[in-house]
Amino acid sequence: MVSDFLHPFAKPTRTDFRTLVRGQGSVVYDNHGNQYIDAMASLWYCAVGHGRSDMAEAIARQAGTLAAYSTFDPFTNEPAEELAQKLVAIGPIPKSRIFFTSSGSESVDTAMKLARLAHVQAGHPERTLIISRQRGYHGTTYGGTSAQGIPPNREGYGPLVGDVEQVAADDIEAMATLMAQRGNTIAAVLVEPLQGAGGVFPPQDGYLQSLRRLCDQHGSFLIFDEVISGFGRLGTWFAADHYKVVPDLMTFAKAVTSGYQPLGGVFVGPAVRAPLEADANFFLRTGFTYSGHPTACAAALKNIEILEREDLLARAVHIGKRLSSGLKSLADDGLIASVRGDGAVWAASHHPNRDPMMIRDKMLDLGVITRAIGADANTFCPPLVTSDAQIDQIVDTLATVLSAL
Ligand SMILES: Cc1ncc(COP(=O)(O)O)c(C=O)c1O
Repeated sequence: MVSDFLHPFAKPTRTDFRTLVRGQGSVVYDNHGNQYIDAMASLWYCAVGHGRSDMAEAIARQAGTLAAYSTFDPFTNEPAEELAQKLVAIGPIPKSRIFFTSSGSESVDTAMKLARLAHVQAGHPERTLIISRQRGYHGTTYGGTSAQGIPPNREGYGPLVGDVEQVAADDIEAMATLMAQRGNTIAAVLVEPLQGAGGVFPPQDGYLQSLRRLCDQHGSFLIFDEVISGFGRLGTWFAADHYKVVPDLMTFAKAVTSGYQPLGGVFVGPAVRAPLEADANFFLRTGFTYSGHPTACAAALKNIEILEREDLLARAVHIGKRLSSGLKSLADDGLIASVRGDGAVWAASHHPNRDPMMIRDKMLDLGVITRAIGADANTFCPPLVTSDAQIDQIVDTLATVLSAL
């Protein structure tokens, strides 16, 4: 019998889910006492590790003071103000402001809306086109569904948001051609600097720099979707720092709280701010009930403090080197076809006719959580507190499973 819970991204008929009950560091436990190394940081987000009492205490303290309150006009709260200030200070866009949401999808939708709205406020309502990339993942609300470049995720949901188009992921010429055709009707180009859920594809050399130039040339905003790459995954606070390209809008979620509370948001850079702030009578009509939720913001402040105190950005670089060299040795041994990734997020790409879902399940049985992505890959994005021994165990478990096939 199926349970009352209709699961996201799952077959509605599945009945045998694994019930997780507890987590500690990079390990989670199920209700039968089995333990798993969480080589995916849950869903790319648990940077500081599971089961942390310092996170629980910060959340409990805020929940017992002012758990939640709207930040719609005329209200604000201290954790939201303090977090916005901290984010602007560590963020890559000078003079930006922060719009808060509760998820990556809400952040993507908001960035798309703000891009179009800023052009309207600047006197250019004709600028509506949003260009994104094939293989991109931008969430599952209608905006993100319309912008994402993974075809099966778009099918069956009726008409999507209008004037949103995808181009091939690594093809700067295709992007340049479409931008030249649509010129002054472009609102924004929306990309993940490193494509994550589409299969972990880092940008080709110079791609993001060329994109920045094209956007400037055509008066388009550049939106980075940093829902996975933000908060240390690539060894810098944001991928924008790592790849040295500054966007106009930048989404975040996931590792901003390491998942201890649902929180997301958008960095709104000066080019977008200026038209929104130009008319003192203009009223911004978008936002979410939980935008600037004080308990979620308190969790983010503690999470960022931990990332800094425990030097987890540097740890990401170390984890990435150890993990990628382990995976590369499996490629050298012919167990996998190739390896791709950057920082502390990697994919093992399999030989043809290998089933990543079956490999995922066999690894689960041996106590390691990976994700099966697309037709070819298993992905790895461990918490930034993962030990060297745990990294080695992740690689060894993959090797064990592949050797037995
Ligand atoms: C790049 C990117 N954008 C947006 C999203 C959607 O975030 P959420 O699932 O929190 O709505 C994700 C989720 O994986 C993501 O990886």
